[in-house]
Amino acid sequence: MPESFAPGQHGCGAPRVHTRPLRAADLDSVLAIQRAAYGDAYQESAAVLGRKLALAPRACWLAEIDGQPVGYVFAHPWHDLAPPPLHVELVPVAAVAQLAFVHDLAVAPAARGAGVAAALFSRVRQWSAQARHRRMLLVALKDALGFWQRHGFRALARSLPPGYGDGACLMERALVS
Ligand SMILES: CC(C)(COP(=O)(O)OP(=O)(O)OC[C@H]1O[C@@H](n2cnc3c(N)ncnc32)[C@H](O)[C@@H]1OP(=O)(O)O)[C@@H](O)C(=O)NCCC(=O)NCCS
Repeated sequence: MPESFAPGQHGCGAPRVHTRPLRAADLDSVLAIQRAAYGDAYQESAAVLGRKLALAPRACWLAEIDGQPVGYVFAHPWHDLAPPPLHVELVPVAAVAQLAFVHDLAVAPAARGAGVAAALFSRVRQWSAQARHRRMLLVALKDALGFWQRHGFRALARSLPPGYGDGACLMERALVS
Protein backbone atom coordinates (compact mmCIF):
# COMPACT_ATOMS: atom_id res chain seq x y z
CA MET A 1 0.00 0.00 0.00
CA PRO A 2 1.55 3.33 -0.98
CA GLU A 3 2.11 5.90 1.74
CA SER A 4 1.12 9.50 1.08
CA PHE A 5 2.61 12.80 2.09
CA ALA A 6 0.81 16.12 1.76
CA PRO A 7 3.36 18.93 1.48
CA GLY A 8 1.56 21.37 3.73
CA GLN A 9 3.67 24.41 3.00
CA HIS A 10 2.95 24.19 -0.71
CA GLY A 11 -0.78 24.98 -0.50
CA CYS A 12 -4.04 23.25 -1.40
CA GLY A 13 -3.37 23.15 -5.15
CA ALA A 14 -0.11 21.22 -4.79
CA PRO A 15 0.01 17.73 -6.31
CA ARG A 16 -0.32 14.86 -3.88
CA VAL A 17 2.99 13.06 -3.45
CA HIS A 18 2.90 9.32 -2.70
CA THR A 19 5.94 7.50 -1.42
CA ARG A 20 6.39 3.76 -1.34
CA PRO A 21 9.31 1.38 -0.88
CA LEU A 22 11.41 1.03 -4.03
CA ARG A 23 11.36 -2.28 -5.88
CA ALA A 24 13.79 -3.78 -8.35
CA ALA A 25 11.18 -3.28 -11.08
CA ASP A 26 11.45 0.50 -10.52
CA LEU A 27 15.13 0.71 -11.48
CA ASP A 28 14.46 1.73 -15.10
CA SER A 29 12.35 4.65 -13.86
CA VAL A 30 15.03 5.53 -11.33
CA LEU A 31 17.70 5.60 -14.03
CA ALA A 32 15.53 7.84 -16.22
CA ILE A 33 15.02 10.31 -13.34
CA GLN A 34 18.72 10.18 -12.53
CA ARG A 35 19.62 10.99 -16.13
CA ALA A 36 17.15 13.90 -16.18
CA ALA A 37 18.53 15.21 -12.88
CA TYR A 38 22.26 14.91 -13.53
CA GLY A 39 22.81 14.23 -17.20
CA ASP A 40 24.86 11.30 -18.44
CA ALA A 41 27.92 12.12 -16.33
CA TYR A 42 26.44 10.71 -13.10
CA GLN A 43 24.54 7.76 -14.53
CA GLU A 44 24.94 4.69 -12.34
CA SER A 45 24.37 1.11 -13.35
CA ALA A 46 21.23 -0.83 -12.49
CA ALA A 47 23.49 -3.46 -10.91
CA VAL A 48 25.07 -0.97 -8.48
CA LEU A 49 21.72 0.56 -7.52
CA GLY A 50 20.05 -2.85 -7.34
CA ARG A 51 22.70 -4.02 -4.91
CA LYS A 52 22.02 -1.08 -2.59
CA LEU A 53 18.31 -1.84 -2.78
CA ALA A 54 18.90 -5.51 -2.02
CA LEU A 55 21.05 -4.69 1.01
CA ALA A 56 18.86 -1.92 2.43
CA PRO A 57 15.30 -2.28 1.07
CA ARG A 58 13.75 -0.25 3.90
CA ALA A 59 16.00 2.71 3.15
CA CYS A 60 15.16 3.11 -0.55
CA TRP A 61 11.94 4.87 -1.61
CA LEU A 62 10.13 5.96 -4.73
CA ALA A 63 7.87 9.03 -4.99
CA GLU A 64 4.95 9.19 -7.39
CA ILE A 65 2.51 11.87 -8.47
CA ASP A 66 -0.64 10.58 -10.16
CA GLY A 67 0.95 7.14 -10.37
CA GLN A 68 4.03 8.41 -12.24
CA PRO A 69 7.50 8.00 -10.72
CA VAL A 70 8.93 11.48 -10.03
CA GLY A 71 11.70 10.94 -7.50
CA TYR A 72 13.72 8.42 -5.56
CA VAL A 73 16.09 8.07 -2.65
CA PHE A 74 18.69 5.40 -1.93
CA ALA A 75 20.21 5.11 1.53
CA HIS A 76 21.95 2.36 3.47
CA PRO A 77 23.65 1.68 6.80
CA TRP A 78 27.28 2.72 6.93
CA HIS A 79 30.19 2.52 9.34
CA ASP A 80 32.69 5.19 8.41
CA LEU A 81 33.04 8.91 7.72
CA ALA A 82 34.65 7.96 4.40
CA PRO A 83 31.80 7.59 1.89
CA PRO A 84 31.60 4.46 -0.26
CA PRO A 85 33.17 4.76 -3.72
CA LEU A 86 30.85 5.56 -6.60
CA HIS A 87 29.98 2.94 -9.24
CA VAL A 88 31.04 0.03 -7.01
CA GLU A 89 28.62 -2.57 -5.65
CA LEU A 90 28.05 -2.10 -1.94
CA VAL A 91 29.37 -4.71 0.45
CA PRO A 92 27.13 -5.77 3.39
CA VAL A 93 27.42 -3.53 6.45
CA ALA A 94 27.04 -4.79 10.03
CA ALA A 95 23.47 -4.62 11.29
CA VAL A 96 24.63 -2.49 14.22
CA ALA A 97 26.02 0.25 11.95
CA GLN A 98 25.75 3.63 13.66
CA LEU A 99 25.50 5.74 10.52
CA ALA A 100 23.00 6.15 7.73
CA PHE A 101 24.44 7.10 4.37
CA VAL A 102 22.09 8.86 1.96
CA HIS A 103 23.51 7.76 -1.36
CA ASP A 104 21.29 9.71 -3.75
CA LEU A 105 18.04 11.63 -3.78
CA ALA A 106 16.77 13.13 -7.02
CA VAL A 107 13.53 14.55 -8.33
CA ALA A 108 12.50 14.88 -11.98
CA PRO A 109 12.83 18.53 -13.04
CA ALA A 110 9.11 18.88 -13.83
CA ALA A 111 8.11 17.74 -10.32
CA ARG A 112 10.38 20.02 -8.29
CA GLY A 113 9.09 22.42 -5.67
CA ALA A 114 6.14 20.21 -4.68
CA GLY A 115 7.70 18.63 -1.61
CA VAL A 116 8.83 15.42 -3.31
CA ALA A 117 12.36 15.59 -1.91
CA ALA A 118 11.06 16.48 1.55
CA ALA A 119 8.71 13.46 1.47
CA LEU A 120 11.51 11.11 0.41
CA PHE A 121 13.91 12.46 3.00
CA SER A 122 11.24 12.04 5.67
CA ARG A 123 11.06 8.31 4.86
CA VAL A 124 14.81 7.91 5.14
CA ARG A 125 14.89 9.85 8.40
CA GLN A 126 12.21 7.54 9.84
CA TRP A 127 14.15 4.46 8.75
CA SER A 128 17.35 5.80 10.24
CA ALA A 129 15.68 6.77 13.53
CA GLN A 130 14.11 3.30 13.81
CA ALA A 131 17.53 1.75 13.21
CA ARG A 132 18.84 4.00 16.02
CA HIS A 133 21.65 5.41 13.94
CA ARG A 134 23.52 8.23 15.60
CA ARG A 135 24.15 10.25 12.46
CA MET A 136 23.20 10.60 8.84
CA LEU A 137 25.87 11.26 6.23
CA LEU A 138 25.76 12.25 2.59
CA VAL A 139 27.80 13.85 -0.13
CA ALA A 140 26.08 17.00 -1.34
CA LEU A 141 26.79 18.10 -4.86
CA LYS A 142 27.70 21.76 -5.13
CA ASP A 143 24.22 22.89 -6.21
CA ALA A 144 22.45 20.94 -3.46
CA LEU A 145 24.37 22.21 -0.41
CA GLY A 146 21.68 24.72 0.50
CA PHE A 147 18.94 22.11 0.20
CA TRP A 148 20.65 19.81 2.68
CA GLN A 149 21.43 22.66 5.07
CA ARG A 150 17.69 23.33 5.17
CA HIS A 151 17.27 19.70 6.29
CA GLY A 152 19.70 20.06 9.17
CA PHE A 153 22.97 18.90 7.60
CA ARG A 154 26.29 20.65 8.16
CA ALA A 155 29.45 20.42 6.10
CA LEU A 156 32.43 18.33 7.26
CA ALA A 157 35.96 19.12 6.11
CA ARG A 158 36.92 15.80 4.50
CA SER A 159 38.33 14.81 1.17
CA LEU A 160 36.08 12.71 -1.06
CA PRO A 161 36.63 9.80 -3.41
CA PRO A 162 36.84 10.78 -7.09
CA GLY A 163 33.70 11.22 -9.16
CA TYR A 164 31.56 13.54 -7.05
CA GLY A 165 32.60 16.66 -8.92
CA ASP A 166 34.00 20.05 -7.97
CA GLY A 167 32.38 21.62 -4.93
CA ALA A 168 30.88 18.38 -3.60
CA CYS A 169 30.94 18.23 0.17
CA LEU A 170 30.54 15.60 2.90
CA MET A 171 27.71 16.57 5.27
CA GLU A 172 26.31 15.13 8.48
CA ARG A 173 23.23 15.44 10.62
CA ALA A 174 22.81 14.14 14.15
CA LEU A 175 19.91 11.77 14.80
CA VAL A 176 20.06 10.39 18.33
CA SER A 177 21.74 12.51 20.99
C1 LIG B 1 17.55 19.23 -4.68
C2 LIG B 1 16.25 18.52 -5.10
C3 LIG B 1 16.32 17.06 -4.64
C4 LIG B 1 15.04 19.22 -4.44
O1 LIG B 1 13.87 18.51 -4.82
P1 LIG B 1 12.38 19.16 -4.63
O2 LIG B 1 11.40 18.04 -4.70
O3 LIG B 1 12.22 20.29 -5.56
O4 LIG B 1 12.46 19.72 -3.14
P2 LIG B 1 11.22 20.06 -2.20
O5 LIG B 1 10.04 20.41 -3.05
O6 LIG B 1 11.05 19.01 -1.17
O7 LIG B 1 11.76 21.32 -1.46
C5 LIG B 1 11.78 22.50 -2.16
C6 LIG B 1 12.32 23.57 -1.22
O8 LIG B 1 13.75 23.38 -1.13
C7 LIG B 1 14.37 24.53 -1.66
N1 LIG B 1 15.52 24.12 -2.42
C8 LIG B 1 15.55 23.27 -3.47
N2 LIG B 1 16.81 23.16 -3.90
C9 LIG B 1 17.56 23.95 -3.12
C10 LIG B 1 18.93 24.26 -3.07
N3 LIG B 1 19.79 23.73 -3.93
N4 LIG B 1 19.37 25.11 -2.11
C11 LIG B 1 18.53 25.65 -1.23
N5 LIG B 1 17.20 25.39 -1.22
C12 LIG B 1 16.74 24.56 -2.16
C13 LIG B 1 13.34 25.19 -2.55
O9 LIG B 1 13.61 26.58 -2.66
C14 LIG B 1 12.04 24.94 -1.82
O10 LIG B 1 11.88 25.84 -0.76
P3 LIG B 1 10.41 26.25 -0.21
O11 LIG B 1 9.77 24.99 0.31
O12 LIG B 1 10.69 27.25 0.88
O13 LIG B 1 9.67 26.82 -1.38
C15 LIG B 1 16.04 18.59 -6.64
O14 LIG B 1 16.23 19.92 -7.07
C16 LIG B 1 16.98 17.69 -7.45
O15 LIG B 1 16.64 16.54 -7.72
N6 LIG B 1 18.14 18.21 -7.84
C17 LIG B 1 19.09 17.44 -8.66
C18 LIG B 1 19.62 16.24 -7.91
C19 LIG B 1 20.38 16.64 -6.68
O16 LIG B 1 21.17 17.57 -6.67
N7 LIG B 1 20.13 15.87 -5.60
C20 LIG B 1 20.85 16.03 -4.38
C21 LIG B 1 22.10 15.18 -4.46
S1 LIG B 1 23.27 15.66 -3.26
